[in-house]
Amino acid sequence: MSRQFFVNVVLAIALAMVFLLPPAEGARAFFVFGDSLVDNGNNNYLVTTARADSPPYGIDYPTHRPTGRFSNGYNIPDLISQALGAESTLAYLNPELNGEKLLVGANFASAGIGILNDTGIQFANIIRIFQQLELFAEYQQRLAAIIGPDEAQQRVNQGLVLITLGGNDYVNNYFLTPISARRLQYNIQDYSVLLISEYRKILLRLYELGARRVLVTGTGPIGCVPAALATGSRNGQCAEGPQQAAAIFNPLLINMLQGLNQEIGSDIFVAANAVQMQNNFISNPGGFGFITSKIACCGQGPFNGVGICTVASNLCPDRNVYAFWDPFHPTERANRIIVQTILTGSDEYMSPMNLSTIMALDSKI
Ligand SMILES: *[C@@H]1O[C@H](CO)[C@@H](O)[C@H](O)[C@H]1NC(C)=O
Ligand SMILES: *[C@@H]1O[C@H](CO)[C@@H](O)[C@H](O)[C@H]1NC(C)=O
Repeated sequence: MSRQFFVNVVLAIALAMVFLLPPAEGARAFFVFGDSLVDNGNNNYLVTTARADSPPYGIDYPTHRPTGRFSNGYNIPDLISQALGAESTLAYLNPELNGEKLLVGANFASAGIGILNDTGIQFANIIRIFQQLELFAEYQQRLAAIIGPDEAQQRVNQGLVLITLGGNDYVNNYFLTPISARRLQYNIQDYSVLLISEYRKILLRLYELGARRVLVTGTGPIGCVPAALATGSRNGQCAEGPQQAAAIFNPLLINMLQGLNQEIGSDIFVAANAVQMQNNFISNPGGFGFITSKIACCGQGPFNGVGICTVASNLCPDRNVYAFWDPFHPTERANRIIVQTILTGSDEYMSPMNLSTIMALDSKI
């Protein structure tokens, strides 16, 4: 057998493996933790009021039906999955998440939760972040039962993780009522420092559980969402308190992540500055093809920002020209802009690197 022939056979086999493997095994696994910005439907299986399982949610999703995503169509994790060449992760509580599907990864996020356990208590039965981490450990045992403990460990270590926390600790805790327990206890600065020190513990636990590439987002522009414009501002200006909170929280987060990476000696945690990304289309909607960044597509009252999006709400005909879908959450179109920035953004948005760089680096291992 000539050497050239041997090389050709090996190449042919390698190519066949790339093309014949089901996508589940071809793409790296993806794991998602956090709140409604990234929930793929876990809350559908829970007795809670924080849910997106009725129309018009999902109106632009391929099935045109509600899925539990807080979007008219795809959300941020879906679009990251697409960039990885993978199918969307299933919600961990979805009974279809079994067998080979476990190789794709899992989504543990639950709308309404925050860094602190007392965030979102009004939503009753949601999966708090420490429980999401417990479920991640359980997931790994289920995966190991299928592909063995070594392979399972490797799949987790080589996976990509997204975690989105913090917004609700302000919106559904600190600023929820004019006088809140946390507001009596802390000023915004000290409260933000508390949140960051608790976020740090959560990330260290994620590392202990095997996560080695973690995209971490902080809060969005919580003072500029239609709900904040409707209740907390005069003449459509972004609400001051929440904007100040986001301006304090996000730089602290980036600092904390740098410290963690230095301690561990590797770029495990990557900060995605969601405020910065969204401020661009909030301050210049026309530049991004939006007719407004203040009025939600689905809602009622000033800016369509009062209450929640239901079948009885105002609904815009063209979701592509609105930055916000409901009083709190971006449209699919806005999510696409956010994910594009995660993929290719400069270090103003992504530090220490963007997802394209991560994918190029990790493919060489
Ligand atoms: C949340 O509750 C869990 C379980 O009781 C506990 O282990 C964890 O430390 C709590 N987190 C915070 C931030 O208080
Ligand atoms: C990603 O980040 C790097 C470094 O900041 C930058 O050079 C590159 O243009 C960005 N985009 C892509 C697609 O890699």
